Amino acid sequence: MAQVALVTGANRSPGIGNEIARGLAQKLPAGSTVILTSRDRAMGLEAEAGLKEEGLNVVFQQLDVCDAASVEALQAFVSTTFGGLDVIVNNAGLAFPMADPTPFPEQARRTVEVNYYGTKRVIESLRPLLRPGFCLVGISSTAGQLGSSWSPALKQRLLAEDLTVAGLDAIAEEFVAAAATGRHKDLGFPGTAYGTSKTLMTQLHRVLARDMPSPCLVTAVCPGLCRTYMATGRGTFMSNVLWLVSFVVGNSAAGGADTPLWLCCELPEEDRAEYHGKFVRGRAICAY
Ligand SMILES: NC(=O)c1ccc[n+]([C@@H]2O[C@H](COP(=O)([O-])OP(=O)(O)OC[C@H]3O[C@@H](n4cnc5c(N)ncnc54)[C@H](OP(=O)(O)O)[C@@H]3O)[C@@H](O)[C@H]2O)c1
Repeated sequence: MAQVALVTGANRSPGIGNEIARGLAQKLPAGSTVILTSRDRAMGLEAEAGLKEEGLNVVFQQLDVCDAASVEALQAFVSTTFGGLDVIVNNAGLAFPMADPTPFPEQARRTVEVNYYGTKRVIESLRPLLRPGFCLVGISSTAGQLGSSWSPALKQRLLAEDLTVAGLDAIAEEFVAAAATGRHKDLGFPGTAYGTSKTLMTQLHRVLARDMPSPCLVTAVCPGLCRTYMATGRGTFMSNVLWLVSFVVGNSAAGGADTPLWLCCELPEEDRAEYHGKFVRGRAICAY
């Protein structure tokens, strides 16, 4: 049966979101529609035109995940035009380059705002439109895996069986407040705003999965190191190093889209329970 899918941050080419939009339009059943979203209207329209030229059924909608009015407008568009949604891929993300002069407190606030609260805002707004058997995938990162830079106490809170979204919000706020005074590492957080925001995003999917009806699929995915603007395209020294490294241990943007597309389009329904609420990389379940 034809489906309706939505991808956030799908404007850049090469970009993981753009590749996911292309792959969904190619792989979902005939008659399906992919809503390609971009915070920048001109870039979004250009991306839409590019995929339409390939004969794919995509439709552009503006979406800034940090702008409540933009999220509301998207919700109204989806509701009025399609009446429901089968697939959401929350791909939009922010990572400050290592050499960026923006003070760390500001980087922490903005990164958590896009990667955690932005993802949460989109899910909360669109959740009532999700149809039975839906697929909800968040593009997270292994940078958010719970390593030794997290205090045992915070890890325990993040992995608690009864963690709630409000509990996650509280941890997000603690991080932003601690970063504002430069005490985040003393208080058990890692030194990275991006990693912390992706930890919160991964756990958001674990927590939400608990209350979502079977046989839906809710997972956070790491696409691996990919040759995109964010990781390798900024022209900085580190970006150039990562570009070289990506040919050894990384992927093209299309390679980064493989696991999300596999989960949404190919994973048999009877195998969904195994991946539900998990963190997935390279089609395999990994530690949070
Ligand atoms: N590339 C990697 O190696 C790698 C590894 C692990 C995880 N990831 C994750 O993969 C996802 C896609 O990244 P990418 O590598 O494809 O980078 P990218 O090409 O820079 O894509 C990031 C996308 O997010 C959008 N975005 C940022 N803030 C937004 C906002 N407030 N509202 C809506 N959209 C917003 C960007 O829009 P603009 O074009 O307007 O900035 C862009 O379309 C990200 O979540 C990233 O963290 C990437």
